[in-house]
Amino acid sequence: MDQLKQKILTEGRVKDANILIVDSFLNHQLDIPLMDAMGREFAKYFNARGVNKILTIEASGIAVAAFTARYFEAPVLFARKTPTLTAIEDKYTAEVYSFTKQVSNRVFVSRRYLTPEDNVLVIDDFLAHGQALLGLAEIVRQAGATLVGAGIVIEKGFQKGGGLVREAGIDLLSLARIKSMEPGRVEFF
Ligand code: G4P
Repeated sequence: MDQLKQKILTEGRVKDANILIVDSFLNHQLDIPLMDAMGREFAKYFNARGVNKILTIEASGIAVAAFTARYFEAPVLFARKTPTLTAIEDKYTAEVYSFTKQVSNRVFVSRRYLTPEDNVLVIDDFLAHGQALLGLAEIVRQAGATLVGAGIVIEKGFQKGGGLVREAGIDLLSLARIKSMEPGRVEFF
């Protein structure tokens, strides 16, 4: 998606340790017209596949999932990392280890909102090692729902997540796939 790649090139900053900072439009401040264009792009690709639920994970996946959901007229369900005020008793859970942050989260979704009738599109901001996406796929499996595919804003194609997700047979659309990066330079596939 050219508009997104251009934005990464002009506003993204590469930190050492292979971290791309995109706080100006995705992870802190949100560029709303871009969010909407990304949602439309996901909708174009996953159109006509009966998607009735968008699943993401807090926090940064929520905005892009919301803009995508408008095109499907579907609700957004976000997996939580932090306990809710009133404990959710009946939930699906998956362990998600973040190699980037070096923390493990047991993420969860209430059974009330994910059922075998659901056709689920998973949306997230970054794909790095694939753990978040595979954790969400595991939650969809536990629910007996159908995983239609996954839409990712930025895939760090030089890390192993994309390979793991495609090997798992998940239909994956990444709007920008980074081949390599270093401070001052980002190259796309
Ligand atoms: P994985 O889920 O693909 O395995 O990725 P990984 O463990 O490496 O990353 C986990 C967290 O780090 C995710 O955020 C992910 O969005 C973020 N992340 C990974 N690589 C980058 C990067 O290059 N730049 C930025 N800005 N973030 C990156 P999270 O824990 O879900 O937190 P949140 O930001 O959604 O709250």
